[in-house]
Amino acid sequence: MTLLRTEIRDGIAVLTAENPPVNALSHPLRAALAEAIAALPGAGVRAAVLTCAGRGFFAGADIREFGAAPQPPAIHALAAALEALPLPVVAAIHGAALGGGLELALGCAGRVAAAGAELGFPEVTLGLIPGSGGVVRSARALAPEEAARLVSLGTRIGAEEAQRLGLVDRVARGDLLAQARALASELAESPRPPLSARPLPPAPAPELWQSARAAAAKVHRGVEAPDVALDVLAACWGTDFETARAAERAAFERLRGSAQSAALRHVFFAERTAAKAARASGGPEIARPGVLGGGTMGAGIAAALLMAGYPVTLAEATPEAAAAARARLEGLIAAAAKRGKLDAGEALSRLTVGEGAPALAACDLVIEAVFEEIGVKRAVFAALEAACAPEALLVTNTSYLDPREIAAGLARPERFAGLHFFSPAQVMKLVELVPVPQTAPGTEAALWRLIGRLGKTGVRAGICDGFIGNRILRRYRAAAEALVTAGATPAAVDGAMRGFGFAMGPFEAQDMGGLDIAHAQRQAARAAGAPVPRCLGDVLVEAGRLGRKTGGGWYDYPEGSRAPVPSKAAARLIAPLCRPGTVPGAEEIAARLVGEMAAEGRAILDEGVAAAPQDIDLVEILGYGFPRWRGGPMFCTRAGAPALARAG
Ligand code: NAI
Repeated sequence: MTLLRTEIRDGIAVLTAENPPVNALSHPLRAALAEAIAALPGAGVRAAVLTCAGRGFFAGADIREFGAAPQPPAIHALAAALEALPLPVVAAIHGAALGGGLELALGCAGRVAAAGAELGFPEVTLGLIPGSGGVVRSARALAPEEAARLVSLGTRIGAEEAQRLGLVDRVARGDLLAQARALASELAESPRPPLSARPLPPAPAPELWQSARAAAAKVHRGVEAPDVALDVLAACWGTDFETARAAERAAFERLRGSAQSAALRHVFFAERTAAKAARASGGPEIARPGVLGGGTMGAGIAAALLMAGYPVTLAEATPEAAAAARARLEGLIAAAAKRGKLDAGEALSRLTVGEGAPALAACDLVIEAVFEEIGVKRAVFAALEAACAPEALLVTNTSYLDPREIAAGLARPERFAGLHFFSPAQVMKLVELVPVPQTAPGTEAALWRLIGRLGKTGVRAGICDGFIGNRILRRYRAAAEALVTAGATPAAVDGAMRGFGFAMGPFEAQDMGGLDIAHAQRQAARAAGAPVPRCLGDVLVEAGRLGRKTGGGWYDYPEGSRAPVPSKAAARLIAPLCRPGTVPGAEEIAARLVGEMAAEGRAILDEGVAAAPQDIDLVEILGYGFPRWRGGPMFCTRAGAPALARAG
C-alpha cells in the first residue's frame, strides 16, 4: 500500500497520507512525508495541501515506537521542513488531529478543519509533552492561557473553538479539500511568516502559571508532564524560537525515558486491548436494558445506561421504594447535566420506573442490584425468568456472592452472568464481567458490547471470593491492619499511601465507605464456618465506630469537620490487639502494601481468575484509585522495575 500519494492539479499539489487505522506517524510514513516535502519545490507547483484518507488526520506519533531509539526523520524535522518551503502548505484536517499530527499541522502555513474535527495534545496523558514544536508553536499561535490549557490538560477542542482561538484559519462546512486549496492559493499570493517566525503575544502575568499548574494537578494528579509542559511554555518568553524548541525536545526526550511515561503507556495499551476485546466481540446489541433494585448501585447503573442513550426501565420492590429510586436517579442525572454530560429532560424522558419483575418484562437485559443476600437474589431471578422473554439476558451485580449459586436455580443459566459495576456506577469506568460455567458465548459477547457502549472498560474475572478487585482489596486492608497491629498509626499508613499516589489511604477510605459492610461479610463467613480471625475492624464496629456516618471509625470526625482527626478512642479500643514492634518508614509501608496487592494478583493469575497482569492493573487503577502513573501493582512490581521507593 502507498502510504502517501501526491496529486497535482491547477498548480497545487495534494499530499494524501493513508496509514490505517488512525494515520499514526510511523517511521515509514514519516520517511514518505520527508521525501514528498523535499520534492515539492521542484514539482512546479505554487502551493500544496496536506491531508489524510480514512478516519481522520494524523492521530499522532506511533506510540509503539516510543520504547525504542527514535528513527529519523522526526516529526519536528518534518514541521521545520514544511516551514522552510518556498511555497505554502495548508493542512486539511478532518476527524482527529492529535499530538504529533497537530504539531505537523502547525508547521504548515495554514490550517482548515472540517466542522466535526477535533484537535488536541493528549501527550500529558502518556506522561509526555508535545515534543515536536507543539508547545513552542502554540505559544505563538494562541493566547498564553489557551496555550497553557491545551498543552498541560490534554483536552481536545472542536473545529469552531480551534478557529476562535487561532489554532486553525477556517472551518470548512462543505468540501474540505476545496477550501484548503483555496486557502493555499491565497497564501501563495500573499505569503505570511511561519509560526516560528511570528512574534510572541505579550508575556502573561506570573499568576497564569500558578493557576494553570493548579488546574493540571486536578486533572493529572501526581503526573510530572503537565508542569514540564508549562515550564517549557513559560520559557518561550525569555528566549528565541530555536532555543525554546531545543528545550522542548530535551524535555520530551527526558520524559520519554521516565518511569511515569512507561507506566502511563502500559495503561494506555492495557485499556486499548480491553476496548478492542469489547469491539471484537460482535455480540448482539442490547436495545432495552432494565435494572432491578434502585438503591446506590441500581440507580447509578440506570444513570450510566441513560447517559449512554438507552431507554431504561428501573424496577423496585414497592411503590415507595420505586419513588425513592426515581428521586435518587433524578438526582444523579441532574448532577450529570450540571457537568454538561447530558440534557436531563431528554434523558429522563427515556426512563420508566415500575415495581417488581413484571415491570421489566419487555427488557432484553436486566441487571440485578438488590440486597446482597442469596435468598433475595434467587427469588428475584426466579421472578425475572418468569416475567421476561426466554432470550432476555439476566445478570447480577453481586460483589461477593458466588454467581454459580445464584445461577443454580435458573432454567436458562446460559443467559446469566455476573456484571460487577463499581460505585458510583455512573462515574467509575470499571466493570468486571464474571461468566458462570454455563454462560453462553453469545451472552458474554452481548455484555462486552454493552460495556463498550457504556464507555466503560471491562475486565473478565473468574469466580472467587471478591473476584479480582475486592479480593485484592481484602488482602490490602489486612496488610494495612497488620502494620497498625505492629505499631504504625492509621495516619502513618494512610499518609504513606497518599505519598505513593493514592487519593486516600486504606483507613480513610474505609471510614468513607463504612466499616460495617466488610464486617457483615466476615460475620457471614464465620457463620458459614470459615476461619476468619477477629480483626481491628471488628473491634471498631462492635464499639459502634462504623466510619464517617457515625462520627468516627479509624478516625474521629468532630462535628463540622470533613478531615479525619486521629482518634484516641479508636487507639484505646484496638490497643489490646496490638503488639508494637519496629515501625517501617513511609516508603517501606507503601512498598510492602503494594507488594501484598501484587502477591494476591499473582495468585489470581495462577488460579486463572484473571487472564493477564494488565487486567489486574486496570482493575486497581480504574476501580480502586491505584495511581495511574504507577502503572498498577503488577506493572510497578514486575521483574526489572525500579525499586518502588524510587519509582516515578
Ligand atoms: P442498596 O441497599 O443501596 O440497594 C438495594 C436496593 O434493592 C434497595 O433499594 C431495595 O429496595 C431494592 N430491593 C431489595 N429487594 C428487592 C426486590 N425483591 N425487588 C426489587 N428491589 C429490591 O444496595 P447497593 O449498595 O445498591 O447494592 C446492591 C447490589 O450491588 C448488592 O449485590 C451489592 O453487593 C452490589 N454492589 C454494591 C456496591 C457498592 O459499593 N455499594 C458495589 C458493587 C456491587
